[in-house]
Amino acid sequence: MNSRAIYFDYNATTPVDRAVLEEMRPYQEEIWGNPSSVHQIGRRARACLDEARDRVSKVLIAKPSEVVFTSGGTESNNLAIFGTARLLRGKGRHLITSPVEHHAVLHCFDYLEKKEGFRVTRLPVDRDGMVDPESVKTAITPETILVSVMAANNETGMLQPVREIGNTCRERGVLFHTDAAQWFGKQSVPDIGFFNADLVSICAHKFHGPKGAGALYIRSPLLPDPILFGGGHENERRAGTENLAATIGLARAMEMFVANPVFAQDSLREWTERLAKAAEAIPGVEVRGSRHHRLANTIAFTVENADSIALMASLDLEGVCASSGSACSAGSLEPSHVLSAMGVPRDLANSFVRFSLGRGTTADEITAVENLLPRIVGVLRAAR
Ligand SMILES: Cc1ncc(COP(=O)(O)O)c(C=O)c1O
Repeated sequence: MNSRAIYFDYNATTPVDRAVLEEMRPYQEEIWGNPSSVHQIGRRARACLDEARDRVSKVLIAKPSEVVFTSGGTESNNLAIFGTARLLRGKGRHLITSPVEHHAVLHCFDYLEKKEGFRVTRLPVDRDGMVDPESVKTAITPETILVSVMAANNETGMLQPVREIGNTCRERGVLFHTDAAQWFGKQSVPDIGFFNADLVSICAHKFHGPKGAGALYIRSPLLPDPILFGGGHENERRAGTENLAATIGLARAMEMFVANPVFAQDSLREWTERLAKAAEAIPGVEVRGSRHHRLANTIAFTVENADSIALMASLDLEGVCASSGSACSAGSLEPSHVLSAMGVPRDLANSFVRFSLGRGTTADEITAVENLLPRIVGVLRAAR
């Protein structure tokens, strides 16, 4: 990393923890067998894979058979949504989600609606981006087969009332999925039953595990249809030779950081509060999402008379790595869909900045950005 870099983008990804990396290393160098091979080299890999599944299920307090290893949050979400919608299409064709989900959820529902004849209800959210659990009760019909609402929002840090939503779904006999990619490692998970969900998506690189590793918790006896076809891996639920090293890394990161979240709450909350105050002291800057009901590491705001691309570029020039929430990195001017759903007008949604702090953040970095922010905004506005 550039020694000048201030990394405020931990919701995008985190560096792999050294202990996690050390534990993964032998699985690239020595234990490289295919877990499906019947010979001794393969059997050794199979034993390690089984052990990783036991370790993950122990952290979750789940059965090993309820854990499917995937390539990360996107695949876990796709398997949960396509897998259950297709499994239960004979029972009903109504699905419920929220408009503030990650695209790895939203686009699954868009596809099922456009191409596979499902009806999708997208629940309204309030100005903080929160789903009202009561709205789930009224949206469920006898045709509803699946509700999917994320645990914590990647753009604003907003925490959703997933436990209440999960309760409602259980009472009404409807499956509940939660994308918890941003929750694990940040908020405590005493056990997987905590979410009251039938399906929970987990993503290792959000909490110092490796990229390309994740898991989907599937409450037994549910067996979603597969979305990847080929071999009979993962008990016929996910074809493809398992990435053993990544799986070992996921297991280790979960053991280290799930029950005791790595994003230490006290200092991060204090620091994001300081950044929020510094931002709000600038005229025309507004913090978005709940100030209190949020991930401690995340603070997001909009800047009147500025745009995300210019803000990101100016911050980057000063060594600050932040995120805009919108797809501007791909050259698009589309505003953040999360802010749009929260009722933020288009031009303001296009001036969005997200700071997400983490383990490497220091008090000096906070002071530097507190001082930098008014200057950057002033220069950008003067140039308009
Ligand atoms: C809430 C949420 N869900 C899903 C994902 C997708 O994870 P991945 O890109 O690792 O597949 C992310 C990553 O940004 C996320 O923040």
